[in-house]
Amino acid sequence: MLIKKPQPISATEITPEAVYKSRRHFMQATAGLALAPLYANAAIGKQLKFTSATHYTVSETKTSLEDVTHYNNFYEFGTDKYTPAERAQALTVSPWSVAIEGEVKKPGVFTLEDILKPHSLEERIYRLRCVEGWSMVIPWIGFPLGDLLKRFAPTSKAKYVEFTSLQRPEEMTGQQRGVLDWPYQEGLRMDEAMHPLTILAVGLYGEVMPKQNGAPLRLVVPWKYGFKSIKSIVKIRLVEQQPVSTWAKSIPSEYGFYSNVNPQVDHPRWSQRRERRIGEFGKRDTLMFNGYADEVAKLYTGMDLRKNY
Ligand code: MTE
Repeated sequence: MLIKKPQPISATEITPEAVYKSRRHFMQATAGLALAPLYANAAIGKQLKFTSATHYTVSETKTSLEDVTHYNNFYEFGTDKYTPAERAQALTVSPWSVAIEGEVKKPGVFTLEDILKPHSLEERIYRLRCVEGWSMVIPWIGFPLGDLLKRFAPTSKAKYVEFTSLQRPEEMTGQQRGVLDWPYQEGLRMDEAMHPLTILAVGLYGEVMPKQNGAPLRLVVPWKYGFKSIKSIVKIRLVEQQPVSTWAKSIPSEYGFYSNVNPQVDHPRWSQRRERRIGEFGKRDTLMFNGYADEVAKLYTGMDLRKNY
């Protein structure tokens, strides 16, 4: 269940312990991985202010850092769950730039530092439910996508947001095969993008984003199937027409634009009623909108969610 704490908690009250604990856990779990604490990351560290702890959380146990960082979908580094943890270490994430294009009054190509500078980061513990039938609970570090979009002044024609991942086959060796139409792309309707639950994440478990989880910048949309949460973003384009996302292009009969977690609408090849939480035995019921119905159901009032899957 989503709990919104009414008052923001200041950094001085809570960050040191939270960071300390998660860092210690992190160091134990990932010894040997080329990761650095947020504050020590050369590319972004100086501009990051880890200002607040969890305003958004769930009452369930967090998935272990080991599972979060070693059971990944990142087709740019292979189609199985285990190779991204290894192969993604070849990815160069600094320098990094992001193009903001399309229906905005202030387009441009920005360094990651410029993208992050005005934003305060916070930790948000969200469920992530994969379309394949497994789920995790992950403490992300990020900021609302809507705050970023507002900075670039969307025009009245901006109805959707299209996101594009990096295409660099020499490092992303999975792109040397045509398993998907590269680069990976995703989209959101403008109101979904502006919703306060939608974040751009730059870290997890108190640390800079592991490469296999989509470093340095990824989307997290907790009420949608995991594939909407696009990794390693290099372009954000505001558009008038509904974008075609990679999975919908690849298998349109199975993947639609909306991809809201919905236990009542089966995937054509399997039920979506239940899910396996990684690290736990047995299965649990999948919740409508992944448990975020109170926050997001109103975005879809009057829509037939069977047609708009
Ligand atoms: N983004 C890119 N660029 N490429 C991908 O293959 N996989 C998606 C999503 N984002 C994917 C992606 C899928 S299917 C899921 S379930 C989530 O990332 C997994 O995120 P995680 O590995 O951090 O748990």
